[in-house]
Amino acid sequence: MSKPGNTLKPFWRYYGGKFRAAPRYPAPQHDTIIEPFAGAAGYSLRYPDRKVILVEKYPVVAEMWRYLIRVSAAEIRRIPIGVTHIDELPSWVPAPARNLIGWWFNAATVSPRASLSVGRQKLAAMGRNFEGWTEATRERIATQVEQIRHWQCIEGSFERAPCIPATWFIDPPYNNKAGSYYVEHDIDYTWLASWCRSRRGQVIVCENEGATWLPFRPFATLKPGVNGKGSREVIWEGGCP
Ligand SMILES: C[S@@+](CC[C@H](N)C(=O)[O-])C[C@H]1O[C@@H](n2cnc3c(N)ncnc32)[C@H](O)[C@@H]1O
Repeated sequence: MSKPGNTLKPFWRYYGGKFRAAPRYPAPQHDTIIEPFAGAAGYSLRYPDRKVILVEKYPVVAEMWRYLIRVSAAEIRRIPIGVTHIDELPSWVPAPARNLIGWWFNAATVSPRASLSVGRQKLAAMGRNFEGWTEATRERIATQVEQIRHWQCIEGSFERAPCIPATWFIDPPYNNKAGSYYVEHDIDYTWLASWCRSRRGQVIVCENEGATWLPFRPFATLKPGVNGKGSREVIWEGGCP
């Protein structure tokens, strides 16, 4: 288990991931953190020593988390680097590892790629650096898998989260066009609002400016992502005793 105060780096860069913004959100007040819309778990990565429970509906992401939680560091270190297409990997490399590498083929996508993006191929040809499936990335992941053995990932919809007092970091796909890019994004926000209101403990809900399904308040403008635009974020905090 990691030391208190330790933070991890992203296992992969996910579209809309909150890793960079996570320190700006309230710190967890409970030993258990639940992320019912897990994605790349940007908030929990900042507090990896807590009891972390992830829920994720997109099977590709849920399977990757289950793999990362149980895989040995030695297995990660055996996966070849320098590949530009998933088919270049040896047959023993399991599907979730292939998907993980597929995410490193491009910047912050919603699903893994089969081959290195054209932009990254050009950077590689020019000898320029980019954060891809490199020795440094592989070593980061190999080191970090040892620190999430106590995490848990439940595959399915957010309602499958255990009904316990916890710090709830609820970051669903935004209820706007940006949210529609996720593979899984069909959400009844009226139902989600009442579900959020009935969580026990500390509840932090993230949304984009303009959302009205909870009484959100302005929170922050997050740094530009790959599209170059900043994202105006709103927040709702609640929680029953
Ligand atoms: C905005 S992303 C979460 C990003 C995450 N906070 C991070 O730092 O990477 C929303 C996630 O919710 C997942 N999702 C969509 N509908 C869901 C549902 N009904 N239940 C659980 N997860 C869902 C999506 O697949 C996506 O991974």
